Amino acid sequence: MAILKIARMGHPVLARAAQPVPDPTAPEVRRLVADMVETMEDASGTGLAAPQVHVPLRVVVFFVDGERRRREDADAQGSEAAAGVPLTVMINPAIEPLGPEKDLGWEACLSVPDLMGQVPRWRRIRYRFQDLEGRQHERLAEGFHARVVQHECDHLAGVLYPQRLADPKTLIFASEAHHLASAQEAPVA
Ligand code: NI
Repeated sequence: MAILKIARMGHPVLARAAQPVPDPTAPEVRRLVADMVETMEDASGTGLAAPQVHVPLRVVVFFVDGERRRREDADAQGSEAAAGVPLTVMINPAIEPLGPEKDLGWEACLSVPDLMGQVPRWRRIRYRFQDLEGRQHERLAEGFHARVVQHECDHLAGVLYPQRLADPKTLIFASEAHHLASAQEAPVA
């Protein structure tokens, strides 16, 4: 395993659409995923997409800490919404919005260091992906979980969150967030 170099905004690999993975079971895909997990953990990230480590493939790793999700989704009802999401490897993911509602929330990105901004995202989504054995999975997500998945899948389309800000004025240094009552801890993904 190895800690990989993270591409930063301005590198062309972050602006291109990533390619589908033809064989999720290939040893080089398993190796890439192991390195991505190590890199994400080293950087204290919540998620990481392959283009962020200079690999233009449709591969994402992420997890959602249960405690954190409870804080972010204070309005969410029921135990499902309060649960965390274990480390998930998504190969060739696809997202479908469920309903018209969007929520505004703070995001940060390992490829856009030190900054954060307020981004509208679908409140509820269905998403599908393959795992490293090539099995197909389908999940429902809402709130913080849905936000992380949408942020990561944006990376696969060559989109970074600053391109989705509802108001460019909300792009701020994270170290200045304490000046804003509305600024919560942002997922770094
Ligand atoms: Ni990101």
